[in-house]
Amino acid sequence: MKVRLSSLMIFLIAVSCLVTGCGKKDTSSDELLIGLSMADLKEERWQRDRDMFKTAAEALGAKVIVQDASGDPNTQIQQCENMLVKGVKILVVIPKNADAAAPIVEKAHNQNVKVLCYDRVIANADVDLYVSFNNVRVGEIQAEEILKVVPKGNYLILLGDPGDKNAGMVHQGHMNVLQPAIDAGDVKIVHQQACDKWKREEAKRITDDALTKYKIDAIVASNDGTAAGAIAALEAAGLAGQIPVSGQDADLLNCQYIVQGKQTVTVYKPIRKIAEFSAKAAVAMIKGETVEGINAHVPNGKIDVPTVFLTPLPVTKDNIDETVIADGFHSRESIYQ
Ligand code: GAL
Repeated sequence: MKVRLSSLMIFLIAVSCLVTGCGKKDTSSDELLIGLSMADLKEERWQRDRDMFKTAAEALGAKVIVQDASGDPNTQIQQCENMLVKGVKILVVIPKNADAAAPIVEKAHNQNVKVLCYDRVIANADVDLYVSFNNVRVGEIQAEEILKVVPKGNYLILLGDPGDKNAGMVHQGHMNVLQPAIDAGDVKIVHQQACDKWKREEAKRITDDALTKYKIDAIVASNDGTAAGAIAALEAAGLAGQIPVSGQDADLLNCQYIVQGKQTVTVYKPIRKIAEFSAKAAVAMIKGETVEGINAHVPNGKIDVPTVFLTPLPVTKDNIDETVIADGFHSRESIYQ
């Protein structure tokens, strides 16, 4: 049976398609395609960053391609190039090495793709947005909590990876707090050294060595991985729990150390906050919308990068329940075992 469509019906179908977008290829997920380039997944926190970012972005209708560079800066550049070929509309990058990652921004901009630096900034490049926790404040908190219990004495400082700009900002925070005590002759930094790639083994080796050379009264470690290395050295020397140690990231092992009295403080950076904020910002940037909340501009050697600094929190045995456990970051059972 032949069905003759009147011109009116054809018009009505056309109008309805126009209104409902029927037949239009659903490009929303292609349009909202995000490339997440991760330096590595070694520290526990980055696995959480990955999962929480992906969940938050997908809830906003985006699709996320995740690439793990396994610690290799060149791999990271190649992976970003591949994601650009796949048509990502923004690159969200945790650079393995701030300087080596600069070409990623140029390649992205050549294709009108923006770059959001997640927690670590890329140097010497026109980065579009940097979202992190105030890393100077991280270092200040570490030093404040250690100075409270060791107002006078010999300090060992374990710095982070020299290729990570965060490490330098954290140390700036250390010195903001310690310098007056040093000037007063109360505190002496008998040794400070960078731990390549934030490696726990490096921190242990440096601490082992320092313990043989100096009387150490306090250890300011720049993150929980290096803190764990220092605590391993203290355990070997029968000093664990006798020498205060700082950290950062609220890793499970270190939260256990805190309730056991082996670690004084970790700096908790609610990963959900940075992950959800960055996902929202990435989607807004794809749409050409402005990002609310810019509260700093961080010089990266080329420009003053528009930055959103979120607030880090000190976690000690006195408040671990109201922070890390209350947030569901770790269960009470896993921390108190
Ligand atoms: C830093 C980050 C810290 C620390 C370190 C190790 O860039 O700000 O949270 O964990 O990486 O991955």
